[in-house]
Order: sequence, then structure tokens, then C-alpha cells
Amino acid sequence: MRHPGFSSDQYRPGFPVLNPIPPKQEDASGLFIFMDGEAHSRFRRMLTAEFMIKNIRRIEPLIEETVVEALERMRASGPPADLMNEFALPVPSMTICHLLGVPYSDHDFFQFHSRAIMDRNSGPEEVEAALGALSGFLGELIKFKRTSPGEDLLSRLVAERVVPGELREDELLSMAMLLLVAGHETTANMIGLSALALLEHPESLEAVRDDPGLAPGMVEELLRYITVVRTGLPRLALEDVEIGGRLIRAGEGAVAMLSMANRDPSVFHDPELFDPARNEAHRHMAFGFGLHQCIGQPLARAELRIALVELARRFPGLRSRTTLADVPKRHMAVTFGLAELPVTW
Ligand code: HEM
Repeated sequence: MRHPGFSSDQYRPGFPVLNPIPPKQEDASGLFIFMDGEAHSRFRRMLTAEFMIKNIRRIEPLIEETVVEALERMRASGPPADLMNEFALPVPSMTICHLLGVPYSDHDFFQFHSRAIMDRNSGPEEVEAALGALSGFLGELIKFKRTSPGEDLLSRLVAERVVPGELREDELLSMAMLLLVAGHETTANMIGLSALALLEHPESLEAVRDDPGLAPGMVEELLRYITVVRTGLPRLALEDVEIGGRLIRAGEGAVAMLSMANRDPSVFHDPELFDPARNEAHRHMAFGFGLHQCIGQPLARAELRIALVELARRFPGLRSRTTLADVPKRHMAVTFGLAELPVTW
């Protein structure tokens, strides 16, 4: 994951593509997750400071507000309710709205289209229409931030990078789309699957209700135990590389299986066990590792921690309405997840 001899560029011939990918878009210039070398670090550097823990702390009150709002809406609509739809999906979408500086009056529009992109029931045309609508919306928003800047990420990137000519508007637009897509489904599925795991382990849910200080450690263990990016991370070898005594030749594909690393018995004691008290949980690879390691991890951790604490606190009688085996899952996605999570209280 750290070796510069591997490429993340899925458009290179021979790249081990795990999911069908759309043709390369002219305006996909800021999708740095698929870039290598200086082109990649140029974009990544512009965001590093934004996602540092101290900056995420500043938006924690907004995350808290979002979480509480979604939970209270779920309460009003039930019982029963679908926790995925009422809680797990809206939280990351509202949070990214706050981060990017989407005006409150446009939240519904933004949320509607970003959820259509993530919904596995959306057909290709619906996804394309939603991507088009969001891209048009973000383009207008970027223009608006030039004249009416706020205290948000888009305004800062416009003022500090676009205006001095360091970054083009279309590059910023695709960076914003990447943040939306990369941060949405991963976090939503983690919230849903974490809720399910804790419903299966009610003693842990009770423990975090009594002592919210346990939440950060529990979140690390949930990230390890669940490992939502279940297809692993694909790479293409650009040169002959030896990894763990195996030669990977130039032109060959390699997939880093994060889920297997996270069940490695030489690192994790009794790895199949969900143990929120384990000391070594933080050594997981759920956010990847090395050059492309998740830039949004402080944000994801904050969202997960706040979501779980508030869920435990506000819904002491929460129960799943189906058994684990019967919960509808999403098997074919890059990130593992639940199609719905029927709950009652
Ligand atoms: C629990 C939630 C999350 C998980 C499990 C997760 C996982 C990952 C993983 C495994 C990678 C590495 C990809 C690779 O090496 O090819 C990654 C990269 C990335 N993530 Fe996350 N992520 C999460 C949340 C977020 C959030 C909330 C954001 C931002 C809003 C975000 C933004 C990104 C970006 C921009 C990259 C690309 C970094 C780069 O290429 O340098 N992620 N994420």
C-alpha cells in the first residue's frame, strides 16, 4: 500500500478492475483516488489540513445536531422504522452538506440526489441523472462561493486555490464529488452495520450508554470487525515488486484484501471475536494504508462515535425486527452493507 511501484489508475491497461467502470470522463480531473505520484499528492495536499482532527472537532456540534435530528425524525415516524433509511443514510449526507457549505435551503435537493447515487435500486439512467444534477448544483455553488464565501471547505478552496490560479473550477468540482461519494456509502454502511452488530451484542450497547467514553475504542473494533470496503483495494504493478516473499511482475494486478488483514491472527488476538475492549483494535486497515489512506477518517470516526452514542442513549429499547440472517444485505457493492435495517423500540 506504500510502495510507489503500484498504480491506482484504473484506466491503465491490465488494471484489475473489480467493478464495471464508466468511460474516462473529461471533467473527472480531480478524482485523485485514481491518481498516482505528484498528480495525486497535488490534490491530496490541498485537503490534508481540512480533515485534520482539530478541524473536524470544530464541526462536531453540527454532526451532533444532524445525528439528533435524524434520530428524532426516526422516532416520529415509528415504531417500527428502517434504521438504514431514516438514520444511517441521512447522517453522512447532511454532514457533507455542512462541510462543503451547502445552504440549508438546498439540503433536500442535495440529499435526494446524493442518495439516488447510492441507492442500489436506482437504475443507470437515474444514477446518471442524479450525478448530472449534483454536478450542475456543485458547479453553481462553487461560482456562488466566489462572491459569497462562507466558513466552509468549498469557500476556502475557492479563495485559497481557485482564485490564485492553482486549481481549476472543474478540478474542484470533481474533488467535491469524490468527497461526496467516498464519504457517503462507506460511512452509511458502517453506521447501519455497527447498529446491527451492537443489537447482536446488547451488553456493548448498554456499556456505551452508561459510559460514552468507551465509544472511541468500540468504533475502532467495529471498523476492524466489519471492514466495509470488502472487495479490497485494487492496484496495478508498474515494476517487478516483491511483497511478503512473492514476486508481483510489472503489468500484474494485485488486490489488498483489507478484510483479511483485519482478521490476521498474528496481529489480532482471537480475530473472529467482536471484542470492543481489545487493545490492538486501532491496528486495523479499514481505512487502507500508505499513499491513499483515507483522508476522511477523522470525520468518519466522529460521525460513527456520535451516531452510536446518541443511538444508545436515545433508544434504550432498540431491537432488530429480523434476525441477522434475514436482514436484507447488499452483496454486490464495493462496500458491504444493509439494504434496510428494520428496527423497533
Ligand atoms: C467508515 C467510513 C470510511 C471508510 C471505511 C473509508 C475507507 C477508505 C479506504 C479503504 C480508502 C483507500 C482507498 C485506496 O487506497 O484506494 C479511502 C480513501 C479515501 N477516502 Fe475514505 N473511508 C471512509 C470515510 C470517508 C469520508 C467520511 C471521507 C470524506 C468525506 C472519505 C474520503 C476519502 C478520500 C477522498 C479518499 C482518497 C484518498 C487518496 O486517494 O489519497 N472517506 N477511504
